[in-house]
Amino acid sequence: MGIDNKTILVTGAVGGIGSVVAKLLATKGASVGLLDFDEKGGIALEQDLRKEGLDVWFQKIDVTKEEDWHSVVATALERTGRIDVVVNNAGINIRKPIEEMVMDEWAKMMAVNVGSIFLSAKASIPIMRAQGAGLFINMSSICGLIGHKYTPEAYTASKGAVTLLTKSISSRYAKDGIRANSIHPSTVDTPMVQQMFKDPQKKRERLDEVPLGRLGTVDDVAQAVLFLASDEASFLNGIALPVDGGLTAC
Ligand SMILES: NC(=O)c1ccc[n+]([C@@H]2O[C@H](COP(=O)([O-])OP(=O)(O)OC[C@H]3O[C@@H](n4cnc5c(N)ncnc54)[C@H](O)[C@@H]3O)[C@@H](O)[C@H]2O)c1
Repeated sequence: MGIDNKTILVTGAVGGIGSVVAKLLATKGASVGLLDFDEKGGIALEQDLRKEGLDVWFQKIDVTKEEDWHSVVATALERTGRIDVVVNNAGINIRKPIEEMVMDEWAKMMAVNVGSIFLSAKASIPIMRAQGAGLFINMSSICGLIGHKYTPEAYTASKGAVTLLTKSISSRYAKDGIRANSIHPSTVDTPMVQQMFKDPQKKRERLDEVPLGRLGTVDDVAQAVLFLASDEASFLNGIALPVDGGLTAC
């Protein structure tokens, strides 16, 4: 896959999906910025990947802070002079239905899951426009395509916004050579779902809804990111790619 020498920023890089995405992209020859607010985990990941000879750097970021995005962009430009791809992967899920959720929790989910993508685009688009090329790969969810009955409404609303923010960036900025695509995984066993999976019935429900009869894996998602980041996918713009074993086809 053609991603050699690309500069790629990955948010939520310390997490279950992000760490595997970042490692795969670096293994395939990209220079990868590991962005996360987990500083200890980020430094450990950076050390591990560098020991394997990979070109990565960690930078602490709160993806909801505009000033942090400016400093991330400045670091990337200092290091490689470019930003080819931003993988907006950081996300949270406060597992409460509407009646139990308070406005601050709703606002936090919106800020982390979708406000972050607005800020990443605001900071990166001027650079990408000057380059005449750039790509956003935004991590949505099956919950950005359907009203998933097991999932908090705030999560579904935020991921639905990711889907259309992505399409909207793709349509406005294509003339500048800037593309945007979203990825929509079904349930993947990561720290995000481990608390929920302590209830065997909930795990069973998540398995039973997938036509292929298994959960998604971090590798399933990472391979989709690799493909979208590659030159081979250069005509894909504004797509919403399910990685869900057929769940949203039903
Ligand atoms: N795990 C799943 O079942 C699943 C399914 C569909 C979509 N997703 C999406 O995939 C993405 C990654 O999920 P995951 O399962 O790897 O989760 P995770 O909890 O393992 O990792 C999330 C990472 O994001 C970081 N993060 C959270 N808030 C941040 C902030 N404000 N600033 C910077 N970093 C922040 C965390 O420190 C963590 O490293 C999320 O967007 C999630 O919504 C996950």
